Amino acid sequence: MQTKKSMHGAWANRWMFVLAATGSAVGLGNIWKFPYITGENGGGAFVLVYLVCILLVGLPIMMAEVLVGRRGRESPMNSMRDVALETGSSSLWRFVGGMGAITGFLIFCFYTVVAGWVLYYVAGMGLGQFEGIDRAGSEAIFTKLISSPGTMIIWYTVFVVLTAMVTAGGVNKGLERASRIMMPLLFVLLVVLLGYATTTGSFGESWHFMFDFNFDKLTWGSVLVAMGHSFFTLSLGMGTMMAYGSYMGKKDSIGSTVLMISVLDTLVALMAGLAIFAVVFANGMNAESGPGLMLNALPVAFGNMPGGQLFGFLFFVMVAFAAWTSAISILEPAAAWVVETFGLSRKKTALILGIIGWVLGLGALLSFSTLSEVKIIDMTIFDFLDFFTANILLPLGGLLTSIFVGWFVTPSISRDELALPKAWLYVAWLFVIRVVSPLAVATIFVAQLVEKFG
Ligand code: PHE
Repeated sequence: MQTKKSMHGAWANRWMFVLAATGSAVGLGNIWKFPYITGENGGGAFVLVYLVCILLVGLPIMMAEVLVGRRGRESPMNSMRDVALETGSSSLWRFVGGMGAITGFLIFCFYTVVAGWVLYYVAGMGLGQFEGIDRAGSEAIFTKLISSPGTMIIWYTVFVVLTAMVTAGGVNKGLERASRIMMPLLFVLLVVLLGYATTTGSFGESWHFMFDFNFDKLTWGSVLVAMGHSFFTLSLGMGTMMAYGSYMGKKDSIGSTVLMISVLDTLVALMAGLAIFAVVFANGMNAESGPGLMLNALPVAFGNMPGGQLFGFLFFVMVAFAAWTSAISILEPAAAWVVETFGLSRKKTALILGIIGWVLGLGALLSFSTLSEVKIIDMTIFDFLDFFTANILLPLGGLLTSIFVGWFVTPSISRDELALPKAWLYVAWLFVIRVVSPLAVATIFVAQLVEKFG
């Protein structure tokens, strides 16, 4: 048994870990991204693949990440090094942690842009701009927003500053306090939204779209997106859960905690999807309208339901909040590493990372206007970052982590850290992490490449 402590602090109790990790998992991935990629990839069958990936790939890998973090008690990079050394493996494994910190930065670049949009909608809702709005009006507002770099930069900057402020505060002061009230409230407002969705007359259509498993439309490309999203939505493959795990109490059960986080995260995504597609279908909108889907659809719902201005305002505040608790967690692996490596204070670290992130993110922000002609493999900077991080870098990070934890970390360590209630559960987990998860990720990578270039 080891009783190492993290220099960055520790969660006050088990529930704080659950809250913070759920805060990290539940974010724009659930409310903004999941509906739009489900729309682009034909609905039902895509949703099924996503659910299978959460269960067979996401859940076991989350356990693996948390266990390495808690064992190492340092930033992902240093935890991986220490756990590797403890088990007699190469310290080169630390570069998997390093890759994660960089991936986090790339995600931060486009994530903050979308969060900036959300803040703009918070203001718009607060000012009653969406009262009685129809489809055309709503779409016009979004189009105007993304073609106005000035407006976007303001909200984007506000969001980056908010994120860096929490990063500066560290584990106890920053992350915990931020998560306590907002998460439950988001859930309540989603139920309200879902209630409204049942009155639109298109709830059934939305349900069928999401849960009729029609495999005709499913390509390996879609399977890749579904798998990539299971990493993105659970904050896996880049060290976030490892960093959060490093602040977790030694006695807390990893298995049941991880299960709870995954269930909550999935519920939020499915609820958001059902509500948004009901509004989309009821108003003759296009399910395949890409990253603008949520922001085109929701104002129409809030603009036309009783009390919609208030609910809408609260809802966007919650979405902004969910984005905030996720953005913090995206920076955490890099932040913890900078503090450990250069001995800087959290404040200085947050300032430096915030500035670098802000500058890099401008590329994604401007890719809807000034830089719209700049293409990387046929995608704008924004689309490329979104695609490349979620569908390539995160699954790759997850694949390497599962190989490390499955084959290199000695079973005595993983069994001790996981402390699962039944012996067969551990055996099952070990089999999945050694064979099933890596094979699934590798197969999907290869099949997708063959489909594209074969
Ligand atoms: N899980 C977050 C979301 O769904 C995004 C995220 C990705 C957070 C990777 C941390 C790490 O919005």
